[in-house]
Amino acid sequence: MNTRKFFSHTGKTMTSQPLKTINLKFEELPESEMKSRASEFNTLMQKRRTVRDFSSRAVSRDVIDDCLAAAGSAPSGANRQPWHFALVSDPAIKREIRLAAQVEEEEFYTSRAPQDWLDALAPLGTDSEKPFLEHAPYLIVVFAQKFELDSEGNKQKNYYVTESASIATGLLIAGLHNAGLATLTHTPSPMKFLNEILERPSTEKPLMVIVTGYPEKGARVPDIDRKPLTDIVSVHGD
Ligand SMILES: Cc1cc2nc3c(=O)[nH]c(=O)nc-3n(C[C@H](O)[C@H](O)[C@H](O)COP(=O)(O)O)c2cc1C
Repeated sequence: MNTRKFFSHTGKTMTSQPLKTINLKFEELPESEMKSRASEFNTLMQKRRTVRDFSSRAVSRDVIDDCLAAAGSAPSGANRQPWHFALVSDPAIKREIRLAAQVEEEEFYTSRAPQDWLDALAPLGTDSEKPFLEHAPYLIVVFAQKFELDSEGNKQKNYYVTESASIATGLLIAGLHNAGLATLTHTPSPMKFLNEILERPSTEKPLMVIVTGYPEKGARVPDIDRKPLTDIVSVHGD
């Protein structure tokens, strides 16, 4: 067993403890397969679109559970895994969420949002009506855990909470898309009502609602562009 010393930024030794390790399970692939996998994954992800018209058709719970488990494999600051996914399919709860979200969104669209934000949203055609919150079979409400309580009820701080929970949500969206489902990332603002409806503690911050299901037949999406690689990447080396 290895031992490792931990140093603070001042150089002070913080802890010395035995480091438990296991063998890394790493499968090296031939370069041709790496290239085809990377290309196929890109092709798949380019087909992902945010859908706003959902069918109420049922979705297999097994599919959702596997995608949630994949989301839970995300890296996280200090391995705190500071996320919670509330999976909502109960029609009464979905209705409650829809009504509460619409109250906030009505306020947002009529007075809270600055004009530049409304201008940015115009090409998407969004408004304060959120029927998808009731129509879609599943709402996955993502909470970021700012703190956790240990067995004695003491608050334990988490690190890079929003970053970690957002990476997990990215994996979730990719997984659901890969499984053949449509999603909508919905962020009613503010979202505190989700803690109340879903009885989540105040140590958790609602981040996003991932509306999940099949698209309505004939669903249409905004005709928008993605930035080319040259606009999103700068290369510093070969
Ligand atoms: C953090 C975040 C919040 C979003 N919030 C909303 C939202 O509240 N309502 C909505 O209709 N779309 C929302 N979207 C979806 C974006 O509008 C959408 O991703 C963007 O227009 C690009 O379209 P695409 O996902 O089809 O590529 C959100 C996306 C992200 C990443």
